[in-house]
Formats: sequence, C-alpha cells, structure tokens
Amino acid sequence: MSQIISNKTQLEEALNPYRRKGVSIGFVPTMGALHAGHASLMHAAKRETALLVLSIFVNPRQFNDSLDYETYPRTLSEDIACAETAGVDFIYLPQYDELFLEDSPASKVSLNGLDLPMEGASRPGHFRGVVEVVYALFNHVKPHRAFFGQKDFQQLAIIRAMVNSLSLSVSIVSCPTLREVDGLAMSSRNLRLTSIQRQTASVLYRALSLIRESWHNEPPLELIHKAKEMLRQSPLDLDYLFIVDPDTLLPVEIPQDSAVVCVAAYCGEVRLIDNMLLSAD
Ligand code: PAF
Repeated sequence: MSQIISNKTQLEEALNPYRRKGVSIGFVPTMGALHAGHASLMHAAKRETALLVLSIFVNPRQFNDSLDYETYPRTLSEDIACAETAGVDFIYLPQYDELFLEDSPASKVSLNGLDLPMEGASRPGHFRGVVEVVYALFNHVKPHRAFFGQKDFQQLAIIRAMVNSLSLSVSIVSCPTLREVDGLAMSSRNLRLTSIQRQTASVLYRALSLIRESWHNEPPLELIHKAKEMLRQSPLDLDYLFIVDPDTLLPVEIPQDSAVVCVAAYCGEVRLIDNMLLSAD
C-alpha cells in the first residue's frame, strides 16, 4: 500500500529513518493524470532505487495560460491506484504555501539561456515555474535519483542545468518517451483530445520520423522544410519545429553527430510537444 502524505514535516518524518539507514530514495515528480509514460518512470525508479516517492502537484506557476491550468486533467483517485500498482511507497501531495518560499535560489539561478528558445519563447515564465517547483520538491524529498521523461527534452536540459548551478546532490535520470501504437507521444494532455483530434495528432510523430529517417542524407534546413510542409497540410497548428544541439539547444543548420528535433503544435486547443534524437549511427 502506498502511504499518502500532504505536508513537508510528515514527509521528513516518514523518510528520515530510511535515509539514516542509507536506503536509496528514488523520486518521480508529476502533475498527475498518470499514464503508461509515468508508469515507465516509476518502473525505472523501482529498478534503480530502494524506496520510491511520487509527487502529484499541478503547479500553477508553470502555466502561462490560465485556461490550460484550469483544464489540465485531474484524476487523483486513478492516479493513486496507478501509483499503488507500480509499487510507489509514498505519494506526496504537497501544499502550495510550503513549496514556494520567497527567497528560493531557484528564482534566480542561471539556466544558461536554455530557457529562452522553443517552449521558453512560446510560454514565457514556464521554465522558471518548473525550476522553482522542482527545486522545492527536491528540497522536501531529498532524493538520491530523480526520474524525468525525455518527452520534455528542454525541461530535462534545464533541470540538469539547475542541479549543476546549485550543486544539488541528486542524479537526474532521463527515461525514453513512451508512444501510442500510432506513434503519438504519451501525454496527460492527450486526454483532452477528441477522437478525431486524437487520430490526426500522430502526424507529429510522422513529421519527426521523416527527419530522423533522412538525417544522414539531406541538409537540416531541407528536412525542416519538408516536415513543416507535412504539418501544414494537417489540421494541426504548428508553433515551432527546430533541430537543435542537445546540449546548447541552439539551432543546427549543418549536419552534426547528434542533434534533436523538437516540435510543438496545437491540436484544437490542446498544445502537444514531442522530440526525437537524431544520431550519427
Ligand atoms: O513534467 C512535469 O510533469 C512537470 O513539469 C513537473 C516536472 C512535475 C514539474 O511540475
């Protein structure tokens, strides 16, 4: 049975005895609406650490659009069942007031410009909200290892930058994106798609695959043009599509050993993001 905890003191009291015994603590932070992608993070954490903490908190500070915040799926009882099935030891449901303190170092930490392009340009303030909440959650849980999905590639790069800048003693583990049968990346937001939108949304995967398949044979700008054309002919409304360097997130215009293609598009009102690694082999 997972134990549900909703304040910092209780969490510390529950975790400290394990910490003193040297038990390794794994952590999966989420905003709930758990799906198989989250389950894969929990399974990875179960494999690599001895005690698993999962947090569920829909963080208002990382939504730059209030409608997106209000309509974000909230499925707490199903989430608890999913966490129990995955063998989560503690489900942490933190309180807003305990998370956000006025002088948090996360409010000022340098993110080396990684927060400026792509999601950062389209959703001003989003990543500052993410680093503030992740910093606070790390501070409450004090995990040895924390698990994040590669689907949020830019978020992952930014969390690593925060951990390095603030010298936090937590290892960040990146887990592969889980996909539906037609390739659509699993996301809590998929729950908001109508059945017709759900069918058309997989064009994102096809556009990324087109780039990956020809990465060795065609110049990046040509591939971007073809993928954008494919998306323009679909009902999706493209926000951005970039091929970037995985470390700097700067655009890649000439072929290089490793790169990542990142895309964001609206399917009706629902904003979807995805990415794919492009490598030399
Ligand atoms: O990826 C998410 O679900 C969120 O951005 C996170 C890391 C839980 C912070 O709210």
